[in-house]
Amino acid sequence: MKALVLAGGKGSRLRPLTHTSAKQLVPVANKPVLFYGLEAIRDAGITSVGIILGDTGREVRDAVGDGSAFGLDVTYIEQEAPLGLAHCVLIAREFLADEPFVMYLGDNFLVDGITGLVDAFRAAGCDARILLTRVAEPQFYGVAELGPDGEIVGLQEKPEFPRSDLAIVGVYTFSPAIHEAVRAIRPSARGELEITDAIKWLIDTGRSVQSHFVTGYWKDTGRLEDMLECNRMVLEAIEPDVGGSVDGLSDITGRVVIAPGAVVERSVIRGPAVIGADTKIIGSYVGPYTSIGEGCVLDDAEVDYSIVLGESAIRGVSGLTHSLIGRYVEVTRATGVPNTYQLMVGDHSKVQVRA
Ligand code: G1P
Repeated sequence: MKALVLAGGKGSRLRPLTHTSAKQLVPVANKPVLFYGLEAIRDAGITSVGIILGDTGREVRDAVGDGSAFGLDVTYIEQEAPLGLAHCVLIAREFLADEPFVMYLGDNFLVDGITGLVDAFRAAGCDARILLTRVAEPQFYGVAELGPDGEIVGLQEKPEFPRSDLAIVGVYTFSPAIHEAVRAIRPSARGELEITDAIKWLIDTGRSVQSHFVTGYWKDTGRLEDMLECNRMVLEAIEPDVGGSVDGLSDITGRVVIAPGAVVERSVIRGPAVIGADTKIIGSYVGPYTSIGEGCVLDDAEVDYSIVLGESAIRGVSGLTHSLIGRYVEVTRATGVPNTYQLMVGDHSKVQVRA
């Protein structure tokens, strides 16, 4: 069995970070979202992985390399334009050959991985087994309708009037029958070859399409709130590990990881939190559910429930919360009354807030 990982797309809801960075590389607990997916694929016993690249292809290649760091053998496949999920299957035909495969949307995050789905698909001998979960707002997803035995009997893509609350999660398993389906369908109203239409074609031509429910936690990490929530979920489970140096005036409580080379002086860190390598936390407070990347400086700063990417500096600013801060960002003090701020700031930005 092979895997096809989709790592193209524009990431428009995470701009400006995605002007300069692939959305799949935004970190959760200091590790790119995409890496969790690659590890889940490896843990399911799959080693041959095709990665579909778009405009941010170079960056994804730089981050993943030949896949050997993950125990994977990675083949890159360039998609000339975002023409749909089914188009990705179409252009991966040669790589996939006649093997069954799991298709994984690279910005999806599943705490419990995909081993359950892959094992069940291998045992079932069906043409597709699709991961589903109940959601509060099904109109924003592909939506499935189930028959009496849990088989999928109908599908809608982002319907105005959903026929169920069962959303399609971005992980699908397919037999080679899907290749005939992606060749048979036509582009949708938004001009894309939809995987939902290809699965519908399988159902309409009498193939067996089964459902599989997510256990644990799932998020499509397309938005700021989703990223912060994934960060919270992962940090909840981290093992405390202090590799850097912490002075006697600092107070570290709860689940906290401090990477080697990091320096903490006169500061309070209340976990769960991770501090990246070579980061300096001086006279600052880092509150729960915060990930600070590598090479950052926090000086006289207070941050909680946030993600800060590498090489950024926050000086003399308190009340930073619910924020996603890119690389090479500087957040510094301006004059005025104290206040809190919610920021979503891209790479190389400079922000001055009232402190
Ligand atoms: C895609 C699929 C949709 C699915 C979603 C899951 O939508 O088309 O059926 O529910 O992924 O993340 P997209 O997010 O690409 O618009």
